[in-house]
Amino acid sequence: MDSKNPFLKLQQVSKKYKDTRALNEVSFDVYKGEIFGYIGPNGAGKTTTIKILIGLIQDFEGIYHINGVSQNKNNTEIQKILGYLPQGVSFQEWRTVNHVLSTLGKLSGLDGEFLEAQIKNVLELMELSEVRHKKVSKLSGGMIQKLGFAQALLNKPKFLVLDEPLSGLDPTSRYEVKKIIKKLSQEGTTVFFSSHILSDVQDIANRIAIIDKGQILKIGNTNELTSDLYSDIIFEVTFFDDFKQQSILKSLKGIKHIDQQNPNKIFIHINKDSNLESLSLEILKTLINNNCYIQRFTRIMPNLDEVYLKYVKGKK
Ligand SMILES: Nc1ncnc2c1ncn2[C@@H]1O[C@H](COP(=O)(O)OP(=O)(O)O)[C@@H](O)[C@H]1O
Ligand SMILES: [Mg+2]
Repeated sequence: MDSKNPFLKLQQVSKKYKDTRALNEVSFDVYKGEIFGYIGPNGAGKTTTIKILIGLIQDFEGIYHINGVSQNKNNTEIQKILGYLPQGVSFQEWRTVNHVLSTLGKLSGLDGEFLEAQIKNVLELMELSEVRHKKVSKLSGGMIQKLGFAQALLNKPKFLVLDEPLSGLDPTSRYEVKKIIKKLSQEGTTVFFSSHILSDVQDIANRIAIIDKGQILKIGNTNELTSDLYSDIIFEVTFFDDFKQQSILKSLKGIKHIDQQNPNKIFIHINKDSNLESLSLEILKTLINNNCYIQRFTRIMPNLDEVYLKYVKGKK
């Protein structure tokens, strides 16, 4: 990823709706080919950010660039490389799937054989080929969402902006759509992906920004987001039998303290600056030499839900 020349650069973008300050000096960079997760509770300002990015809201403060093009030219150059899936997308019920795609394709300036071929491609990609000639009124909620996704891909966008793309999808479709998002990013598409559910983006986003009340609270990859959550490194050790020999570990350098919640499970808290490799080896050796039968030895990593709760709930 090119960290000097971000694909998308937002600088101090603010937006007010009458009395509501929906965005407050939001700045971040998104790099080419990355999947950027934009996470925050309802009302945080996600859709507002997206509407600014795609040129739907033009009265805002601050600046942004997409692929080196400034927002002033949004209606021409940026539109050409943009694919957009709105939150809660809907289509006229009387149209067929094919009709929806050809109409929207033509509205975005596509036509002829290219449009025909692209309709076929996106229907295959979203596994909607079988319903191509069905009316929208006959589709399930999940299929309508996939149709929304399909229309966003018609122009082979370099920049795909998805506002809550997984809501309304059943678990299988969620999995499939995530797989498609990943594949597109591997092919070089930059993906901006909003959700109020952290686990939606956790396994596919390269980086995540947490937004609440119009302000970015934290940006980083999963490791960066979790690293400052725990002040210690923690190992969890589960034994086959009850463990009664805490004292054998206490002499090891680097161990701060040991918690025992169950008779056969301990949590070993270790100073952050310890040498992890040698200390974990020492712990294991000591336990084995004292005939402790280890069932599981693992390092506890904070999960992103904890990070999210800390930043979002911590502020309220
Ligand atoms: N058109 C609008 N008019 C007035 N207030 C709005 C409008 N759209 C959004 N808001 C307010 O701006 C804030 C951010 O909304 P939004 O960007 O939709 O959040 P999110 O997508 O994260 O749920 C909320 O307080 C919302 O009520
Ligand atoms: Mg929204």
